[in-house]
Amino acid sequence: MKLDETTKNMLVAEAYEAQKAAYVPYSNFSVGAALLAKNGTVYRGCNIENASYSPTNCAERTAFFKAVSEGVTEFEAIAVVGNKKGEKGGFCAPCGVCRQVMAEFCDPDEFLIILGAGDKTSVYALKDMLPLGFTNENLKSS
Ligand code: THU
Repeated sequence: MKLDETTKNMLVAEAYEAQKAAYVPYSNFSVGAALLAKNGTVYRGCNIENASYSPTNCAERTAFFKAVSEGVTEFEAIAVVGNKKGEKGGFCAPCGVCRQVMAEFCDPDEFLIILGAGDKTSVYALKDMLPLGFTNENLKSS
């Protein structure tokens, strides 16, 4: 996908809006994501923590699961922002589990991951964030 500046900036702004809802009483690290579906809809996601820690859901997966649970499974790009509360912070790259979820639904050559921090952005193809990933292709008989 070719990402124009307007779309990129819109997605980063949506990710910052999503970040406002982050539920982070344990880490104080709030993350926001904005996932652009091929049908043009943007799904916002935030991280949601838990006293038992392991049920914590990352912002990226929240956005994906919102979309997939509504029957939407084709995506163009995701923007991600994250920082400790009250701090500026740098780029917040998706964790390995979130990259794996992206690989389930997205074309590794086409799907773009936009990292935002203030007015800085950096864009990666999924294949560069998850090289040699395990996918449904591996489960097919040879
Ligand atoms: N987190 C995300 O939401 N996305 C990432 O890609 C990295 C980590 C969240 C999980 C947890 O709530 C907090 O950041 C600190 O790890």
